[in-house]
Formats: sequence, structure tokens, C-alpha cells
Amino acid sequence: MSENKQGKVVIWDLPTRVFHWLLVTAFILAWLSYDDNRFMFLHVFAGYAILVLLGFRLLWGIIGTHYARFHTFAHDWRSVTDYLLGLLNGKAMRYLGHNPAGGWAIFAMLVLGLLVSLTGLLVFGGEEGHGPLQGLISYKIGIMSRPVHEFLAWSMLALTVFHVAGVFIESLLHRENLIWPMLTGYKEGAAGVSGVRGHHYLGVSMTVIAIVAALFYFRGYLVETADHLYQPYKGPVMPDNALWRESCSECHYAFHPNLLPARSWRKIFEEQHDHFGDDLDLSKETAAKLLEFHVKNASESELTEFARKILYHTPENETPLRITETHYWQHKHKHINPDYWQHKKVKIKGNCIACHLDADLGTYEDSNMRLPKKETAEANPAPAK
Ligand code: HEC
Ligand code: HEC
Repeated sequence: MSENKQGKVVIWDLPTRVFHWLLVTAFILAWLSYDDNRFMFLHVFAGYAILVLLGFRLLWGIIGTHYARFHTFAHDWRSVTDYLLGLLNGKAMRYLGHNPAGGWAIFAMLVLGLLVSLTGLLVFGGEEGHGPLQGLISYKIGIMSRPVHEFLAWSMLALTVFHVAGVFIESLLHRENLIWPMLTGYKEGAAGVSGVRGHHYLGVSMTVIAIVAALFYFRGYLVETADHLYQPYKGPVMPDNALWRESCSECHYAFHPNLLPARSWRKIFEEQHDHFGDDLDLSKETAAKLLEFHVKNASESELTEFARKILYHTPENETPLRITETHYWQHKHKHINPDYWQHKKVKIKGNCIACHLDADLGTYEDSNMRLPKKETAEANPAPAK
């Protein structure tokens, strides 16, 4: 079973190969999705996948087949230096399993991968208030974990580059394609070497589990309708007020008070007779009641991540009258194609609800935003000449 017609033997069992390519996929997905809050849900899924995969690999490194076991590639320092010197004069020894330098790169990647996922959970629990550590980790620890998480992720990327470069160098040196065996399992054997068991049932089961887990995790997107778009994250229940809803949603949707600091709301109500060119014309009593609700639940209340960020990024001597003029808002929206602000569903930047499905709740959770569909030429006919 472990030797094929050309005399090649199985070096990488199926679970090891499935692990390897699932890890590659999860790693690429995590990198593609890290920078845009719209894809946070995907990013977190990739992180969970990496954690579970590495957990499996740790186990398989102990109970797996010969070449997958840690002790077979925990080479001593001497072999590492010999191997690296061998690379320089083109006479590096050929190893059937991981070579000494590659082996240690694998250990480093396993450790870094675990640390990246675990610090990711700290950020997710502390800063975003979600995941298994929600409520256990303070916001401050969440914020402090973020640069650590990022540094570790970059280190892991650097190691991955090193690993891939190593694969190419060794492939060239020994005129042997090393990527192919990670797909098929087979490698040209050596005298007296018998291959390992393929463990196909386990490998196939892992693939099925990965597909089912992904379908389960993303099921909300599969069943959403145009009227009920899926929102993966639920934020905290925000303080509400009927008078506020009534008075402030006449001309635009009602901005939740946590979106601006208290001093901004004070100024907005002081200047209510010149409200961006309109006169709000509120009675003294109504204005006072509204102001009270706004001040009580302003950014200083730190009800949401957004409130904290607005507060932190607005210098004390600035009193922004617009959410859309705050540094944090501008920072978060600078990559959006400017065409969207002219879109017929958006029109003004303050029309948050056109893109943020949970804007009405005041939460602005990650992944609950969708850019409206690009307007077609038909829906927006070119003016006749
Ligand atoms: C009579 C119409 C009207 C009413 C009622 C109204 N607004 Fe406005 N509001 C406007 C206009 C017009 C703008 C500017 C929209 C633009 O051009 O971006 C605006 C913008 C704002 C902005 C800035 C949005 C941004 O760009 O970040 C805030 C904050 C705001 N309004 C708060 C309130 C509050 C609080 C109330 C209720 C007390 C209220 N508005 C009621 C007309 C109104
Ligand atoms: C044209 C669509 C659009 C409009 C309108 C819009 N946003 Fe956004 N917003 C986005 C997108 C897309 C992102 C994700 C950007 C990224 O992370 O790169 C985002 C990100 C955010 C975030 C960051 C979420 C987080 O967890 O850090 C907040 C908060 C936010 N927007 C608030 C607002 C508010 C408040 C308004 C209205 C004053 C608004 N947005 C208007 C599209 C929009």
C-alpha cells in the first residue's frame, strides 16, 4: 500500500497533507481579511481554524506516522549547521522527512501560529467584546494585545516566506519537486526505506469536518434574504429614547448619542437654530430633555468600541459637530471608493444606515456593514446631450 509502481513510498500521510493545505488556506484567508472590518467574521473563522489545526498537529506530532512525528525532525544543532553549510557548497544532505533547518522552522511556525491565534482571541474578547474570552478580558488588555498579535502575525509570515524559500532551494538542489509529495504523499524512497500508512479515513474525515464547520459557521449568509441581510455580530443593547427617535429622525436617521462626545452634543443643541442650515426649532424643554439623553449616553459612556475610539482619537480641544469629521470615522472610511458617497442609497456620508445594517441599534459591529450594490448604467441613465 505504501509503495507505488515507480518505487516511491508514502512519506506524508493524508492527515498531515490535509492539515498542511487547510493551514495554508486559513493563513491566506486570515491575511486577506485582517484589514477591513467587513471581513472580521471571516478573519475570526480563519483564526479558529488555525487554532484547531495546530491543536491537531501537536497531537499528530506525537501519535502520527514516522515522518510527521516531532522527534524525527527535532535534529540536533550540529545537523542544522552541517545542513546550512552544505547548502552553501551545494552538497546538503537529502532528507526524506523535514531537513534540519526546515524542521526547526516547522516548530517555530507551530508555536507562532498558536500564539497568533491566542493573542487574536485576546483582541477579539477585549477590544471587540466577542468570542470565548468576552467579558473575561478588559478592553485595555484587548487594545494592548493588538500590536502583539500583529507583530506575531508578521513574524509568522516571515517564517512562512523562509519555509517556502527553503522548499524551492531544496527542490532545485536535489532536482526533486518537494511540493508534489505534500499533495500526493509519495517521495522517491531510499534503500531499505518503507513508507508510512496513509491514514486515509482520518484525512478524509478532516476534510469533511472542515467543510461542514465552514458551512455551519457561515450558514447565516446562506439563508439571508435581501430584506434580512445576515448580521454576524450582535452588539450590546443600547439605551433608547422615544423623544430622540421622534425628533432626530425626521430629516436623517437618528444618530445614537454614543457617536460623539458630550461637548459636541452640547454645541449641537446650543446651535439648534442653525443645524447645518436647518432650524430644529425645538422648545427649550424638549431641547433640555434631548440634551440630557445625549450627554448621558455620549462617547464618554464607552458603550461601544466605536465610542471609545471616537473619544480616544478626538483631541480634547476639538469639538466636532459631525461624526463624519472625527479623525476615527475618517480613518475607518478612507479606503471606501468615493463613488459610494454619491450612490443613490447613500447620498451623504452621514447616511450610516445605508451601509451599516445595525446603525439603527447604534452598535456598528464589525461585519455588519455592506456596501450597496454598484449602480448600473440603467438605474442611473446618462444625461441626454
Ligand atoms: C430639519 C431637519 C433635521 C432635523 C430634524 C435634525 N437634523 Fe441633524 N442634520 C440635518 C442636516 C441637513 C444635516 C447635514 C447633512 C449633511 O449634509 O451631511 C444634519 C446632520 C447632523 C449631524 C452630523 C452628521 C454627520 O455628517 O456626521 C448630526 C450629529 C445631527 N444632524 C444630529 C441631529 C440631532 C441630534 C437631531 C435631533 C435633535 C437632528 N440632527 C435633527 C437636518 C436635521
Ligand atoms: C458607503 C457605506 C458607508 C457609510 C455611509 C458609512 N460607513 Fe462606516 N464603514 C463602512 C465600511 C465599508 C467600513 C469598514 C471599513 C474598513 O474596516 O476598512 C466601515 C467602518 C465603520 C466603523 C468601524 C467598525 C469597527 O468595528 O471598528 C464604524 C464605527 C463606522 N463605520 C461607523 C459609521 C458611521 C457612524 C457612519 C455614519 C456617520 C458610517 N459608518 C457611514 C461603510 C460605510
